[in-house]
Amino acid sequence: MKKVITYGTYDLLHQGHINLLRRAKDLGDYLIVGVTNDNFDRERGKLNVRNNVLERVEAVKATGLADKIIIEDYVGQKIDDIQKYDVDVFAIGSDWEGKFDYLKEFCEVVYLPRTEGISSTMLREETQEIVRLGILGCGRVAQRVPSEVKVVSGVEIVGAYDIDSSITKAYTDRFPNIILCRELQNLYDCSDAIYIATPHASHYTDIKQALNAGKHVLCETPMVLNGDQAKELYHLAEDRELILMEANKTAHCPAFNHLMVMIKSGVIGDVVDIEASLSQLLDKSGREFDKEQAGGALFEQGSYPLLPIFKLCGIDYVNLDFYSKMEGGVDIYTRGVFRFPNATCSFKVGLGVKTEGCLVISGTKGYAYVPAPWWKTDYFELRYEDQNDNKKFFYKWDGFGLRYEIQEFVSCIINHRLSSARLRRKESIQMATVMEQFSNSNNLNLI
Ligand code: CTP
Repeated sequence: MKKVITYGTYDLLHQGHINLLRRAKDLGDYLIVGVTNDNFDRERGKLNVRNNVLERVEAVKATGLADKIIIEDYVGQKIDDIQKYDVDVFAIGSDWEGKFDYLKEFCEVVYLPRTEGISSTMLREETQEIVRLGILGCGRVAQRVPSEVKVVSGVEIVGAYDIDSSITKAYTDRFPNIILCRELQNLYDCSDAIYIATPHASHYTDIKQALNAGKHVLCETPMVLNGDQAKELYHLAEDRELILMEANKTAHCPAFNHLMVMIKSGVIGDVVDIEASLSQLLDKSGREFDKEQAGGALFEQGSYPLLPIFKLCGIDYVNLDFYSKMEGGVDIYTRGVFRFPNATCSFKVGLGVKTEGCLVISGTKGYAYVPAPWWKTDYFELRYEDQNDNKKFFYKWDGFGLRYEIQEFVSCIINHRLSSARLRRKESIQMATVMEQFSNSNNLNLI
């Protein structure tokens, strides 16, 4: 029996796929089709696939052409599969001409003619609802947004506005396809959604105005510095059926999410302790050191270490103590210690003090270790008493990492999903409550 194998994503299955599968099948007696899994596609930068892996497998099955369907999980798997299934022919469309010649060592490689005029990319574009995004606040962070938006489908940046018109001008000069908005209203007029990257202290007003103007909002973290304000804004968004999302990069990082679901599934037993640390030594003349602009280490960095703590231990802590070193009215270093009913957690943040920036999650069966900078997780280890059980996990963190949150934001808008499990509204509200406790000097100890 002559066995043929072929691979693909098979998103929005189309005639090109069917022709290819038929041609591949005609090369032998038995056809194996490898369908990429969602993670694998995401890791190779394909962020916009519409159908999930189960839907794509079902679609390939429905063609009746595949004798066996397998899932493609990792780079190098093709060689393993060819040997495992004793494959005679590897077939793929001619758009890959030459790319798989390295498989000739293992079997015959055939590049089949590709059907002209159709592709999943084309179909996605044709049927895609485009979210028009407006940028509010054109400073440092906003500079990184255009290149990230480019790799996410279903969204384009239409306009930009900054309270300082010279900053808006510099921004739109740098990104000429973006309209310069002289008034905030002009930005609302051309957008469906607003990305807010203004200073922290303006977030509350900026979000409220944008929601009242009927716009979805993605706001840089920390969203607000007061729990009641956060609640009010989420209620307002819900009442108006708009998406309000806090732009916490780590919450949308694929590797971090994988770590969270693994720990929730019990791979290290019950979580008893979390230590999360983050620090960045910055120029002391910057806004991060300005009390009037809500500067300080906790406001600047706190929402990142709070994320794994709230995700894994919940938001119902019994006690939270802060230990801070202040300078010029802001904390240049803060250590926070939580007591939960069944766990203790601590975090360190620093703008004027450097710490080891790792994340350690300790459980009753083992612990997870994420080296610095853990907030952009691309690698972690699970460690156990018996070192033979240790496991290392490698991932990719693409670009500035904003693409993951932008993609989730757009997906929430298009699919009318009011909240995201990656950062629940109650977790975001609790982060704002922690900021408020700190502002009120609750359990604050100066060092
Ligand atoms: N294919 C083809 N003719 C087309 C489109 C795809 O023969 N018009 C082939 C590809 O060469 C590959 C298989 O179908 O062998 C699966 O390709 P896949 O990447 O899933 O399809 P595309 O439509 O090319 O997807 P995308 O636009 O996302 O790259």
